[in-house]
Amino acid sequence: MEIFLDTAELEEIKFASSLGVIDGVTTNPSLIKKAVERRRGEISMVDYIKEILKLVPGPVSLEVISVKAEDMISEAKKLYKLFSPYGEVVIKIPICPSTDGESNVYDGLGAIRELKEAGIPTNVTLVMTPEQALLAAKAGADYVSPFAGRIDDYIRDQLGMKMDADYGKADYFDFELMRKLADEQLRRIIESRGDFSLRGAYIDEEIRDAANAGHDNGIYSGVDLVKKILAIYRNYKYSTKVIAASMRNARQVREMAELGVDIVTIPFYVLKEMLLHYKTIEGMRFFIADVVPQYKRIFEE
Ligand code: E4P
Repeated sequence: MEIFLDTAELEEIKFASSLGVIDGVTTNPSLIKKAVERRRGEISMVDYIKEILKLVPGPVSLEVISVKAEDMISEAKKLYKLFSPYGEVVIKIPICPSTDGESNVYDGLGAIRELKEAGIPTNVTLVMTPEQALLAAKAGADYVSPFAGRIDDYIRDQLGMKMDADYGKADYFDFELMRKLADEQLRRIIESRGDFSLRGAYIDEEIRDAANAGHDNGIYSGVDLVKKILAIYRNYKYSTKVIAASMRNARQVREMAELGVDIVTIPFYVLKEMLLHYKTIEGMRFFIADVVPQYKRIFEE
């Protein structure tokens, strides 16, 4: 599995690349905004991106900012021409750049198709369903980025859970527990119906609401979203690579690796979390405390 760093912070990229565990980088306008704000705007964007590209031993995703296919295509060509001499540029295209559900619905697919023909690699972003991933692959995407963490957020939001109040952004979403709770709720509602018939139960609104709780149209978590995309791609032998994105914690990384996802893109703090374990730290303390002078002297002579 390849590991990309999901950041536009030069220092993080420099450090992680020096450790030899990073195969690429993904950026987006929000990550670039953070990097610019941290430097109080005193940053030449072009030079900064060139620096990132020079440091990374693999693909660096840069996102377009328009919503119309023709504009996204011309931005993609500009980014590709400007930065390709410095590294491996991949262009991020939103799967559906609509902001109202009506306009620009098909522009993402149009841009992916044309960029494929122009030989410019794409990473299709903001993927929230396997259906979107299927269309992206058919249009010729090189990579798709399903947003695992945001799907987990969405499922929790639908249940009335609020980020920060009920759960932290980096918390693992225990969808197996959620499934058990949802099944139990459904069982109790069905039990409360004295007069049970299959037809009556199937059209009962309270029962239907309970059956629809804890998942997004059959997607039970961000990990489940990636699992379903991988199954579809394997069924039809699509060569589009899957980047598990919007990753929030180390356990998600493990579950993505168990699925056999091609790539995970992680924030810097997840890299640290992947290394830490209480017993490893405790074990280090014991080893250091047990060093005898005779053994220490080997290194001093
Ligand atoms: C990566 O390609 C995405 O832009 C990123 O993972 C989004 O992560 P977030 O949901 O934590 O903002």
